[in-house]
This record gives sequence, C-alpha cells and structure tokens, in this order.
Amino acid sequence: MYPARVTVQLAARSYDVAIGRDVLGELRPVLAALKPSSLLLVSDANVAPLHAPAVRAAVHGLAELHEFVVPAGEGSKSPARLNALYDWALGGRIADRRSVVLALGGGVIGDLAGYFAATLMRGVPYIQLPASLLAMVDSSVGGKVAINHAAGKNLIGAFHQPAAVICELAFLDTLPRREYVSALAEVVKTAALAGDDLHTVLDANPDAILARDHGLLARVVQHCVRFKAGIVARDETETTGQRATLNLGHTLAHVLETAFPDRYLHGEAVAIGLAAALGVSIARTGLAPDAANDVTRLLARLGLPLQAPPELDPARVLELLASDKKREGTSLNFVALRAPGRPELLPVRPDAGFAALLLGRDHG
Ligand code: GLY
Repeated sequence: MYPARVTVQLAARSYDVAIGRDVLGELRPVLAALKPSSLLLVSDANVAPLHAPAVRAAVHGLAELHEFVVPAGEGSKSPARLNALYDWALGGRIADRRSVVLALGGGVIGDLAGYFAATLMRGVPYIQLPASLLAMVDSSVGGKVAINHAAGKNLIGAFHQPAAVICELAFLDTLPRREYVSALAEVVKTAALAGDDLHTVLDANPDAILARDHGLLARVVQHCVRFKAGIVARDETETTGQRATLNLGHTLAHVLETAFPDRYLHGEAVAIGLAAALGVSIARTGLAPDAANDVTRLLARLGLPLQAPPELDPARVLELLASDKKREGTSLNFVALRAPGRPELLPVRPDAGFAALLLGRDHG
C-alpha cells in the first residue's frame, strides 16, 4: 500500500508528495527531470548529522552536492541567516539558475530554505524533505515560505511551491517525543477541519499514534497531506478564505508564542488555541458542546495542554491581538467551527469580552 503519493494540483506547478518509509529514492526521478547543475542542501545542526548521510546517498552521482548547516531553532529564520545562505551560494559560485535547493529539516528549515530558493536568482526549484511530523502534515506542503522580521514572524515571505515533497517516515524515529507529540495538535486540528474519519482513527488509536506505529502514521500523514493539498489547490495564495481556515487555533497560539517565547512548542500553543477556538465556536457559531468535547478529550489523551497559563490576562491578550497580521481594520478574522468539517471565518471585534472568551474566563 505504501509509499503513498498525493498530488497538489496547481496546473503547471503541480507536484507530488511521497509518503512512506524508505522513500528517499523518490528524489532520483524528480531530480532527473529537473537536471540540476548543482544541489544546495540546507539543514540544521540537529537534523544534518542524523539524516544528511541518507540524502547524500540518495542523490549520489546526480550533481555536485553542497551543504549548509544552520543552528537549530526559530532564530535561524532571520535576515542574517538568509544573507549567509546568499553569500555561500553566490559568493562561493556554487549556484546558477539550474541549481536545486534541498530543504532537510522541520518547519524552520522548510521556511528558510524555501524562501532562499524563492529569491535566489529570482527563484530556483526546491524540494522539501521534512524531518518533523509538523513539517510533514503542514508546513512543507503548500509553498508558504518566509523568514521573520523584528516586527513579527513570517513577515518577509513568498508563495513558492516546491518541485516535490518527500515525507520519509524513518526520519520521525529520531524526533524528540515532545516535538512529536506537539505536532499531533496540527493533526487533531486537521481532523476537526476535515470532519471526516481522521478523528475516529485518532480517537480509536491514541496509544499506537504515540508509539509512532508506522502503518498508522503513514495513514495519518497521508490523510493530512491530502486534506491540505485540496485546500491549497483551491486557494493557493490565501485569497478566498479557504486556506485561512487552516489557522484554526492559531489566534491564541500566536499570542502564547509571543507572550512566552520559550515556553511552548508551536503545536502545544496550537492545542491550547484549538481548545480556545472551540470555546469561542460554542458561544458564537453554535458548535455543539459534545463535538467540542470530542476534540479536547482527544488532545488531552495525546498529552497536549488545553489551558492558557493563569498569568496571561485578557489585557495582554488584547495588546498582542492588536499586532496579529490577520487583523483587518478594527476586526479580526477568527477561524471558528460551526460543526466538525464546517469552519468559518468570523469577523470579531477584539475587545475585553472577546479576550475573556478566548481565555475561557468569565468577563466580569
Ligand atoms: N500553515 C498554514 C498554511 O500553509 O496555509
């Protein structure tokens, strides 16, 4: 049954996502078609020692391979690090317009190397080799690439679709448990947005998911990728509102990540934000409390947090919402659910009442 293949349908920019164990061999036909003059592998200091050897073996003999390793962590999505990549590629004369970038790592590397590829000589192809569950189920698919600016996260970026995404599930074996578990929040989010049998699959098998059962994991990643590929095909550049619904749970998540920069992994913040979004949905879009409970119970069974810390008060939430880049005019586009599978963009006025509702606290 595996490796599985999902196609992101974008006319001339369509590409395949391959999912399974021992699927790095998929690199060869993709690269054979691209006929690269050189390969520019970008990775981080955690992932490169573990998985660059397998990538080296997979591309052996296809083109000269150059490697650049950045420090692990969000700090590498910086203008300075991007500049170091340009210096390496251009100053070192190892790149031309037929070079292909290989992004080996989690979401940070996908974003950094993808933006590097989007801008290098007005754009060269790149291939996503996600090494984290979060990158496989979300960030590596759909072509959003970015670096951060002092004014906020992902404020400098582009839509640049990869030539292929290869989800090598063996990479997940080495992922630290906390990072793996946190990514399950995005999986649960996808299940809530999709409203199909993904929730049932997760609900019936939390222990197998936590044990990284290979068959189940392949099925879950494929499910998430297929769902996201459908949304991206319909709203590639987030203009119709469909792609924006993928931000379910992200309003409070961004607040938490800004207020407590080192406390939460992205997925942990999303779990709390998702629980909060369901609370808002019960109040504002008539989501059935039982449907919300099904989701929060699953998050809890997977070991994910549900509550914002008590020291986060509504006033601070309001202050941070004011800088949310999804805010339009005086209202904020909040992703709510009417029912599983029925997300809705809700214009809300970010006032004290909304901040209290988001935090699940009575406004008194
Ligand atoms: N991570 C949300 C998106 O790709 O649109």
